[in-house]
Amino acid sequence: MSLQGKHIILGICGGIAAYKSVSLLRLLVKAGAEVQVVITPAGKEFITPVTLSALSQKPVVSEFFTANTGEWHSHVDLGLWADCMVIAPATASSIGKMAHGIADNMLITTYLSAKSPVFIAPAMDLDMMAHPSTQANLRLLESYGNHIIEPETGYLASGLTGKGRMEEPEKILEVLEKFFSVGKSMEEKKVLITAGPTYEKIDPVRFIGNYSSGKMGYALADECASRGADVTLVSGPVSVSVSNPSIKVVKIESAKEMLAECEKVFPTSDVAIMCAAVADYAPAHTADSKIKREHQEIPVIELVKNPDIAATLGAMKKSSQTLVGFALETDHEFENAVEKLNRKNLDMIVLNSMRDSGAGFGTDTNKVTIFTRDSRCEYPLKSKKDVAKDIVDAIISKKCEQR
Ligand code: PMT
Repeated sequence: MSLQGKHIILGICGGIAAYKSVSLLRLLVKAGAEVQVVITPAGKEFITPVTLSALSQKPVVSEFFTANTGEWHSHVDLGLWADCMVIAPATASSIGKMAHGIADNMLITTYLSAKSPVFIAPAMDLDMMAHPSTQANLRLLESYGNHIIEPETGYLASGLTGKGRMEEPEKILEVLEKFFSVGKSMEEKKVLITAGPTYEKIDPVRFIGNYSSGKMGYALADECASRGADVTLVSGPVSVSVSNPSIKVVKIESAKEMLAECEKVFPTSDVAIMCAAVADYAPAHTADSKIKREHQEIPVIELVKNPDIAATLGAMKKSSQTLVGFALETDHEFENAVEKLNRKNLDMIVLNSMRDSGAGFGTDTNKVTIFTRDSRCEYPLKSKKDVAKDIVDAIISKKCEQR
């Protein structure tokens, strides 16, 4: 039911697995989706547009314009029309072009114009699949927020046996249905995320800050965007960047600036995730010029409390909104996390402890415990990308699920 009325672009590349795309197309149409097939010139060598247009009840798009009438096929319009794009089979060549923006056919230009989630089902010989360049291209595509439907291991067209068989159409359908089922999608949700450290100026060259790299918050932004959310990311100074171009990134420096941006965006947000490591204190005064070592006594820097952004949003929160905080602790982890959940009026808190190796600041991994109002789940050490998936799943279902 979740695909009923969905606009799906089915991209077909030139590989022997293209014959399976016919079954996939039939399954998508049967599930109630409106499907537009876009095929590469090589794809037409494997499967005829007549079969595909008969099943989809739409002319198949392959070229930029129809030769005899000059009718222009707009990849931009197609990209905007789609609720999702599935490229099955995706060959090594098309995967390489997508990863590097080589827009030399209609399928690749449509991919580059697509604003919706994109699912890629590779199919190729085992050695091509295992080649470092194919693997690097797939990881690059994944880092842009695309969903890779890994191929199976089995008998291949080359006569060899190994990993490279395109996933079966029924399984691809299952992936899409799961994605669009109420449990996974963030379509039409507005999400505010904070990330990175804040810098509190002492003088023009010095600040009070912390070690946050922004990796956790940026992974959350990419995860929410890949599920269709409209994401605003308010970020302190970091060197990481988002993969998904639809994310609106607002750069700030201090806690006060972060608060001001959050207060603007929060009233119209459905979900807010406070992942930033906000400095709790700021210098009471910022010197106009560099504090000189030579001319002064050892300076004493008077500190004042910064605003608590999560608590401020907690006080403004409406019942329709979900507010998620983080807790970075060094001791009494569970008690402190629960205390913050309650004091800041949060719906969920994600605890990470500096006592766990591979967790917290700077690492590519994290180990978290999620607390909602009525559930608590401890997760093993995972990549920050996978931790982001667990957090977003818990936000959507309003409870965590141990895995
Ligand atoms: O950026 P990375 O290197 O990937 O590291 C990720 C992380 C460790 C920064 C992240 O996982 C994390 O734990 N973020 C919250 C860090 C923190 O400030 O925790 P806290 O326990 O001090 O704060 C509790 C909550 O209140 C947090 O949601 C925080 O964003 C918020 N807060 C804190 C202080 C303040 N003045 N305003 C706030 O909104």
